[in-house]
Parts: sequence; structure tokens; C-alpha cells
Amino acid sequence: MNEFEKRLDEYVAAVNTALENYLPADGTKLTDSMRYSLMAGGKRIRPVLTLECCRACGGNIEAAMPFACALEMIHTYSLIYDDMPCMDNDDLRRGKPTNHVVFGEDMALMAGMGLYARAFELVIEAKERGLLSEASALKGIKVLLNASGANGIVRGQVLDMENIDSNPEVDLDFLGRIHKMKTSAMLEACAELGCIAANADVDQTEALLEYAKAIGLAFQIRDDILDVIGTSEEMGKTIGKDEKQSKKTFVDFMGIDVAQEKVKDLTLNAEKCIYGFPDKEFLVSLAEFLCGRKH
Ligand code: IPE
Ligand code: IPE
Ligand code: MG
Ligand code: MG
Ligand code: MG
Repeated sequence: MNEFEKRLDEYVAAVNTALENYLPADGTKLTDSMRYSLMAGGKRIRPVLTLECCRACGGNIEAAMPFACALEMIHTYSLIYDDMPCMDNDDLRRGKPTNHVVFGEDMALMAGMGLYARAFELVIEAKERGLLSEASALKGIKVLLNASGANGIVRGQVLDMENIDSNPEVDLDFLGRIHKMKTSAMLEACAELGCIAANADVDQTEALLEYAKAIGLAFQIRDDILDVIGTSEEMGKTIGKDEKQSKKTFVDFMGIDVAQEKVKDLTLNAEKCIYGFPDKEFLVSLAEFLCGRKH
């Protein structure tokens, strides 16, 4: 195992422990349903990005952990909703049957909303425990709301609903806007929250935001590629969904090879954005890992 993989494993283990503490089982079906999706695995890329951005800016990762867990809860809620029959109608996620398949659509809706609300609650609790200043907590909540709401995931998912065969407006520019809102916005939030937790300066924050924007777009294009060339075993989700739902992706417009070139270009751009950081190795390796990921 190399240095990058070792630290990645340590981050993932720390995030899983923190999530367990933030959402312990209480014997109710609602909490079981929330924990079912939250603790089902997942790469934990978003919280890892937050923790590392905080560390790279000289902060203490303990202060970033509430933000990291909030992001993972919001991300998990977005996956539960993305899989619902009225959205992508998927029955496999993180290698397990989707939330609505196990708990029913009504409970899946409530579990998603429960995770979303818990995300904000735990940021406020972190302020009450003195882990975050009031100003940092408030700034963080604003970032989380912005990335998840009508300028972020929600708008991206609505645009994605308009990504249908008969819509002549769907071109590369349209796809870029979907990807920016449904995926990059959250990755940018991850970087920004790490910066807030570290009290990073404007230059550091701007550089990491640009880095996250580039890996965010690359991440969703790679997801679209893996929807064609990936395996369900490795991905833990159904493959071929975009084609089945007649959704256009970067692969339709440019083919797999050129789309992967675009992922590589974005990865190189991301690395350039953090050129000035003295301790950038992990972030460089993370970008490269995501560029070639198979899951
Ligand atoms: C899946 O996100 C949704 C996309 C934005 C493509 P991830 O690929 O990060 O899923 P998990 O968290 O590892 O399950
Ligand atoms: C969903 O994009 C991104 C979210 C904001 C949830 P996809 O629909 O392509 O994600 P997967 O492939 O189901 O993970
Ligand atoms: Mg979707
Ligand atoms: Mg989907
Ligand atoms: Mg996909």
C-alpha cells in the first residue's frame, strides 16, 4: 500500500467512525433506513476531500469532521432520491438493494429527508460543543444549502430530468451545466468547507475551489463512462442506466476515448490549480485516482 492509499484508508475509517457516532442505531425503522444507506459503504470521496483540504491549509481535521459527515449525509440522501422510481428507478446502490426496495418508497423519502436535516443539525451541535466558531458554522451551513439546493443538486437533478431524447436543447453545454450543478457543486462545497474549518486565506480557498470544480466535472464524466464500460460488481450499481433511460452523456457526443481524454485534461487542470501548495501530494494523487477509478 502506498502513502496515498494508506492515508485514504485512515480518512475513510475515521469518517465511518464519526458517522456511526453521529447517527447511532436506536431501534426505530426510520433510523435503520437512514443508516442502511449511510453505512452501506461508498467511497467517501466528499468527506475525504474536506478533511484533506482542511489539513492542506494547516487546519485540524477534527474541526472539519462535522462538515465532512454533513456532506456525506447530504450526498447519501441525494443517492436515495436519485434511485427512487420517479427518478432513475434503480434497485442496486453501494452493492445492496436500494433504500426504497428494502424499506418502501414512503420510508425512503423520510430517510432521505432525515439525513438531510441531520446534516445541518450536526454542524450546529459542533458549534455548541466549541468545535466550530459560530461564524464558521454559519458560513458552512450557507455553503451546504447552496450546493444542495436550487443552485446545486436539486437544480442539477431537475435539468437531468430534462435530459430526454426529444429535447433538442441537450448539447455538451447543457450536459456541462447538469454536471456542474448535480455533482461539481458538492465537490466545491467539500473543498470550501475544509477551508472554512482551517480558516484558510482567500488564495488557498480560491485555488482549492478551482481544483474541486475540475475534479467534480471529471468525476461525473468518469461516472458516465463507467456506466458504459464498468461492471455492476465493481460499481455496486446497475450499469447501462443512462442508455436505458435515453439520457445523453459526454460519451454519446464524443465517444469513450475522447471523453476519457477530457477527464484527463480536467485532472491535469486540477493539479495545476494547487501548484502553489507546499503539501499537495495527496490531492494530486486523489485527482489521479478519481481519473482512473473503476468504481
Ligand atoms: C455517485 O457518487 C453519484 C455521482 C455523483 C456520480 P459516488 O460515486 O461518490 O458514490 P459513492 O458515494 O461512492 O457510493
Ligand atoms: C446522480 O447522477 C448525481 C446525484 C446528484 C445523485 P447519476 O444518476 O448518474 O448517479 P448514479 O450513476 O446513479 O450514481
Ligand atoms: Mg440520476
Ligand atoms: Mg442515478
Ligand atoms: Mg451515473
